[in-house]
Amino acid sequence: MKFPEGFLWGGAVAANQCEGAYNEDGKGLDIQDVMPKGVLTGPTKEPTPDNLKLAGIDFYHRYKEDLKLFAEMGFKVFRTSIAWSRIFPNGDDAEPNEKGLQFYDDLFDECHKYGIEPLVTISHYETPLHLAEQYNGWVNHDLIGFYERYVRTIFNRYKGKVKYWLTFNEINSVLRQPLLSGGILTPREELSLSDLYQACHHEFVASALATKLAHEIMPDAKVGCMILALPIYPLTPAPDDVLAVMEANHFNDFFGDMHVRGRYPGYMKRYFREQGITVNVTAEEEELLAENTVDFVSFSYYSSLCEGRKGKESESANLMGGKDNPYLKKSEWGWTIDPQGLRYVLNRYYDRWQKPLFIVENGLGAKDVLVDDGKGGKTVEDDYRIEFLHDHLVQLGEAIKDGVPVLGYTTWGCIDLVSASTAQMSKRYGFIYVDRNDDGTGTLARYPKKSFYWYQKVIASNGAALDE
Ligand code: BG6
Repeated sequence: MKFPEGFLWGGAVAANQCEGAYNEDGKGLDIQDVMPKGVLTGPTKEPTPDNLKLAGIDFYHRYKEDLKLFAEMGFKVFRTSIAWSRIFPNGDDAEPNEKGLQFYDDLFDECHKYGIEPLVTISHYETPLHLAEQYNGWVNHDLIGFYERYVRTIFNRYKGKVKYWLTFNEINSVLRQPLLSGGILTPREELSLSDLYQACHHEFVASALATKLAHEIMPDAKVGCMILALPIYPLTPAPDDVLAVMEANHFNDFFGDMHVRGRYPGYMKRYFREQGITVNVTAEEEELLAENTVDFVSFSYYSSLCEGRKGKESESANLMGGKDNPYLKKSEWGWTIDPQGLRYVLNRYYDRWQKPLFIVENGLGAKDVLVDDGKGGKTVEDDYRIEFLHDHLVQLGEAIKDGVPVLGYTTWGCIDLVSASTAQMSKRYGFIYVDRNDDGTGTLARYPKKSFYWYQKVIASNGAALDE
């Protein structure tokens, strides 16, 4: 198994799940600071001490130590997000916060010190809280202007340091998670479909605007959309089930279609018509969308689902709905494990969009046990994680053999961090164990796991070690 020359191996995190320092150096609050239980419950009025994200894994102060470990693994790329509220504390401020800007300057310099390319998510589930409270997030057209000011600022500041940009993390999740994904405070049940799709439209316009600005300000920049990929299989060969899959796929493919084709697809126009949904779209916006399509498509991949008339609704499906697949095992958090789904989705996306693909999240959330390593230190014997990643990488290799162009692969939570959906520390994804518990106790010390050395070999051999 050999991966293409220059393949970008690495890992991914998001600012709100690892940085901590939630109120330092001028940072404003963002929606994560008031979501102590992840998406499971609504927001609190202000930050509460039980919110693990407030301190995260203290990456804000320890990034040098962490980058050194990533470099030791051989990372070629490191995906993180910029916390919007570090740059514009309220989101609608006229001037940026210099200390926030400086932090990311230092972080990106540290990446380059090791030859690691930063891959930056502009908005990763961390809308400034003020924009949620004052404007109801992306439902409001004004968010486009605030986002434009923010991207203009970071593009001008980091040109020459950051080449790869993602406009919105898992943009399709806004349909099911309006607060997390779109900073929309109105509960989903009370939100009209018109408001929801208007919010999507505003994000599409903002994304196209960011793509346009990136290309103007940084001619070498590559901008991608980022989609939560969830292959959907029919529960049976009954044509009704197959059509149910087609329709379910539309609600996800819509987001890629808008970014790659730059126009509203017929199936969505039909849905809007039949549901009485009105979305205000101006002629200028249509032109902007058509003229500023993305350079590549990136996505997260964790699990797959089924659709059909019968079958049990899945209890946990990475923020999305769907039915359980009787043929697949599940993780401790109930997410199905389906390595072949990765090959399937890579082929499907490339067939559909004909754009280079980038897998920017993949991994297994599991409980780890810290043990003595026999050399006076500590480690985790995480063979289950190695097996998961190995099997997915083999399928990624198959897709490459199928002719799918893949730019790179960043595992999710390359260092343990706070979970997005449940706000737990104990749902661990990392190659590096972080000593922090769900009750907030722990020394925050870092310990390489067995998977750390495994990934190091995979990268050093450019994938050949997967055959061993
Ligand atoms: C994705 C998000 O949905 O899945 C990440 O982009 C998130 O932010 C990851 O952490 C894993 O989900 P969780 O809930 O296990 O943290």
